[in-house]
Amino acid sequence: GLKIVTIGGGSSYTPEIVEGFIKRYAELPVRELWLVDIEAGREKLRIVGELAKRMVKKAGVPIEIHTSLNRREALPGADFVTTQLRVGFLEARIRDERIPLSHGYMGQETNGAGGMMKALRTVPVILAIDKDMAELCPDACLVNFTNPSGIVTEALLKYGRNKKVIGLCNVPIGMEMGVARLLDVDPGRVRIDFAGLNHMVFGLNVYLDGEQVTRQVVDKIAAGQMDSVVKNIINIKWVSEFVKGLGIIPCPYHRYYFKKDQMLAEELKEFAKGETRGQVVKKLEADLFELYKDPNLDIKPPQLEKRGGAYYSDAACRLISSLYNDKKDIQPVVTANRGAIDGIPSGSAVEVSCVITKNGPKPLSMGELPPAVNGLVQQIKSFERMVVEAAVTGDYNTALVAMTINPLVASDETAQILLDEMLDANREYLPQF
Ligand code: NAD
Ligand code: G6P
Ligand code: MN
Repeated sequence: GLKIVTIGGGSSYTPEIVEGFIKRYAELPVRELWLVDIEAGREKLRIVGELAKRMVKKAGVPIEIHTSLNRREALPGADFVTTQLRVGFLEARIRDERIPLSHGYMGQETNGAGGMMKALRTVPVILAIDKDMAELCPDACLVNFTNPSGIVTEALLKYGRNKKVIGLCNVPIGMEMGVARLLDVDPGRVRIDFAGLNHMVFGLNVYLDGEQVTRQVVDKIAAGQMDSVVKNIINIKWVSEFVKGLGIIPCPYHRYYFKKDQMLAEELKEFAKGETRGQVVKKLEADLFELYKDPNLDIKPPQLEKRGGAYYSDAACRLISSLYNDKKDIQPVVTANRGAIDGIPSGSAVEVSCVITKNGPKPLSMGELPPAVNGLVQQIKSFERMVVEAAVTGDYNTALVAMTINPLVASDETAQILLDEMLDANREYLPQF
């Protein structure tokens, strides 16, 4: 049997991953699932841990659920470690959203100035986890879900000791499901060739039963027939001719770049009402935990689908199963480029369709990205690399350059105003600065 350790186990998403392991028990025999959190998460961990125990009991699978506030106690013997933590909690996310918006700039969990601050808080914690893993479970594979997933994976690939590291996001699986709805077919019949970066990924080709249907799908998206795919991003329709001209499938996060003004206007309205996404999620989370406390609840409640990360367990569990079973199927993950996308360093993190083997993901060769999007992807990759350098060194000038080259900031003076205010607001989570 397998031992899985989930760090950030008090997350409201944990019932997702528990359900995923229950559903796949026959092919993925998990013996122990350790849910790990920190002292501040004690109560959430207790509630989620009890629910997890009821879920496995109800399902009749022999998965032992353990909870711990000490990851070093949990890690020895782990086969897979998953990370889903939020350094600074939702309060920090709300500040990441509200500070840039208060200056008239996009404030978002994983994009722009907010995404960068989340990375600066998270990278030191993730590298400490990586260090503990190298010592306590050197053969374990780290499946990172913690945002910003692309930057966190970049940091692990460049500065981590553990070479078995895979980043994950529910956006690609959500896009495949969205396209399946669009074509009115079972999701298992649809496959997309993904290439790009996390939250900056494109669907280059779409296949239905192995046949190319990219143009039909592009035309349907151009006709406004696809929803936004994730609950946290407002579904503003694309300009039809823009999508037709692009000829590939954008991800929902591309709205922040290709609909910059409109998205900012929408976010500013929410900011004014005190309803940024982090503020909304705070309420959703409180409601979810009220449900989780109910001793009669023994399944994942459908209300969890109001969170943006819906279906992440499917992404995580199908990945772990394919690694464990050496399935050699194709799945989109965040991994070292190794030549898959032209012009991105071999060791840098990309989100790309990969063959999943027991020796890890092997990226499919995607060649050069279309010229329409190659520049933006390269720019974001440069930003991500600079953010990692800033996060590891704590160098102010590097941080200022990183924030300035982000397209959602794009000004040294604005960057300095945002950076100073945000560094100050995050002091307790930034030991490196
Ligand atoms: P959350 O606020 O519930 O945080 C999860 C847990 O992390 C909390 O219980 C908290 O106590 C714990 N935590 C905080 N600091 C920690 C530390 N230093 N060590 C261990 N645990 C710590 O967050 P959430 O909304 O469940 O999201 C969790 C993470 O997953 C976030 O980073 C979020 O951005 C990410 N996420 C990623 C995707 C994706 O597509 N990759 C989707 C959804 C969420
Ligand atoms: C999407 C993204 C995640 C992100 C989440 C936010 O699914 O892929 O990376 O964290 O939405 O959802 P939330 O409900 O927290 O706003
Ligand atoms: Mn994501």
